[in-house]
Amino acid sequence: MNVRSELAKKLTNENSSLRIDKFIKQCLHEKNSYYTDHNPIGKDYDFVTAPEISQMFGEIIGLYILNYWLTKIGSRFNLIELGPGKGTLLKDILRVSKINNQFIKNAKITLIDKNIELIKLQKEVVNSFDIKNVKWKEKFHLNSALPSIVYSNEFFDCFAIRQFYKKKHWLEKFVKYNFNENQFSLFDKIVTEKKIKKELLKYNKYGVAEISIEREKIFNNLCRHINKNKGMIITIDYGYNEILKNFSLQTVFRHKKTHLFENIGKQDITSLVNFSEFITIAKQNNLKVDLYSSQKKFLNEYGISKRKNSLKVNQTLMKKKIIENQYKVLTDDKYMGNSFKVLIVSSK
Ligand SMILES: C[S@@+](CC[C@H](N)C(=O)[O-])C[C@H]1O[C@@H](n2cnc3c(N)ncnc32)[C@H](O)[C@@H]1O
Repeated sequence: MNVRSELAKKLTNENSSLRIDKFIKQCLHEKNSYYTDHNPIGKDYDFVTAPEISQMFGEIIGLYILNYWLTKIGSRFNLIELGPGKGTLLKDILRVSKINNQFIKNAKITLIDKNIELIKLQKEVVNSFDIKNVKWKEKFHLNSALPSIVYSNEFFDCFAIRQFYKKKHWLEKFVKYNFNENQFSLFDKIVTEKKIKKELLKYNKYGVAEISIEREKIFNNLCRHINKNKGMIITIDYGYNEILKNFSLQTVFRHKKTHLFENIGKQDITSLVNFSEFITIAKQNNLKVDLYSSQKKFLNEYGISKRKNSLKVNQTLMKKKIIENQYKVLTDDKYMGNSFKVLIVSSK
């Protein structure tokens, strides 16, 4: 049964409803859903990510990671990518890290993904480097006591969120289904759950809140692991760290914005990552915040402009223009420059 039919069946009873995060989770992560069995990334699919735009993105991150390893670890370690997509970021990081021939030798690589089509592509990348013992896991669960370097790009925006807004009371978004019209719709319920009411107190002055329990739980587990075994987390995503003025939930199909109830189970659903929550979680786990900035600021500070100029040397005019354009997409405020943020936290 496809995802739409499963959800309709679940909601057929007149009085039944589903919290919006549960609806999203079924569309994205459960059986036959969006993230389980097809490649969504690329010009011919739904969206393009920073590593797919240019090698410069992965190279800058690779240099940061290599430098961290050289200065803070220098021995056996876990290299963990969350949601590696087509494996392009991994490829660029491994290629750059060859500057030092000890990095790959010392890395125990674990890739966290559950998309069978994307895992096939990741395997091709791994094979091209002739690396043995790479592990794939569906979830982050690591028993290893080695220090770890964990990184991700556009991973945390994939998790389901609960949506709240305030009128007289806090209200939460739910989904229902009309069998006769074969249509899903949104409606609100007053929040009564004590724990969530307490959580919402900090959003009182903004009147809007999006909370992702799963996203925060995963980040908390990572931070706990890093605090215990040492290392660093570098995560890039589109997000905010202060006020959310409007709901940020967004659905995309074939590069076009759509509605949540179109293409159910076949389209991307994302939301902005609340980086202030991530920073709080990191600090609660005794980690230090090494960097929080826009993607533009991070890439510029760590040398993307220099790399761009070196890539342009001896290239045709056409190729030079392509490289300039890639740089623009990664760093300009009109594209990814400001909406994407970089957070780096590490053990003390
Ligand atoms: C938006 S893509 C980003 C891919 C890649 N990092 C990039 O920048 O091109 C999200 C990635 O996370 C994976 N993913 C999404 N939800 C996941 C989940 N619940 N568990 C494991 N992996 C997940 C997807 O399969 C995909 O590889």
